[in-house]
Amino acid sequence: MGQLEGKTALITGATRGIGHAMAKLFASEGADVAFVYRNSDDLAASVEDELKACGVRAKAFKSDVQDFQQVQTTVGEVVKEFGRIDILVNNAGITCDGLLLRMGEQQWDEVIDTNLKSAFNFVKACAPVMMRQRSGNILSVASVVGIHGNAGQANYAASKAGLVGFTKSVAKELASRGIRANVIAPGFVVTEMTAKVDPSVVEGWCAGIPMKRGADVDEIARAALFLVSDQSSYITGHVLDVDGGMGM
Ligand code: NAI
Repeated sequence: MGQLEGKTALITGATRGIGHAMAKLFASEGADVAFVYRNSDDLAASVEDELKACGVRAKAFKSDVQDFQQVQTTVGEVVKEFGRIDILVNNAGITCDGLLLRMGEQQWDEVIDTNLKSAFNFVKACAPVMMRQRSGNILSVASVVGIHGNAGQANYAASKAGLVGFTKSVAKELASRGIRANVIAPGFVVTEMTAKVDPSVVEGWCAGIPMKRGADVDEIARAALFLVSDQSSYITGHVLDVDGGMGM
């Protein structure tokens, strides 16, 4: 029996990268998967089929995670379709890098809204559902950058650090209701997001990682599975580094 049998997971940004890897792993562990995507209808439909091939229910929902009202509507549709939400993964995120002196207001707002406000939007919409169920599990994808900072990523680092404070507060508020909330903080992961980074920069990153390489998306997904499954039933408010030793 799969570790997530009988559970419904809602994952944001699951058409590619880390979110896609989590969706596939959770489905292979028996979870029904609802996922949120922003643009690509064709890609979302093909991911839906891919997940259904695991023998679970899967459905894509088009929504902009930054938009409070859209998220309220989307979560309502997920509940209508699946009847419950056991696992929420706040994964969708962007970078829009630049040194502080050159960073514009829009560059700041876009990253904070996509990476941090999105988590508020989804937790606000999902918490009442989880409270009615008297159980739920929230996982947010932060970054080592949120813990250590990074030149050129003040907006991104602030959004990811914000997720840590947000999650710990939510964990304290909702623990007595049977709801856990945790964070994973990946280091460098090989995805489309990091593919746009200059190869010489990537080489520099790898040199600074004790394990001398970036993570595969499946390595992040497996850490996520631990935190959203009953294997971690006594863990809440925790930040799990999944970074090859980068943050030591
Ligand atoms: P990615 O760019 O491959 O995937 C991000 C997903 O989020 C995409 O499917 C995108 O469409 C979706 N998304 C972005 N803005 C959205 C919006 N407004 N509404 C709905 N969906 C939206 O990125 P990747 O690498 O898979 O990253 C996933 C998460 O992991 C992000 O939160 C990222 O910050 C975090 N992370 C990534 C690391 C890396 O090295 N790739 C390292 C540490 C954290």
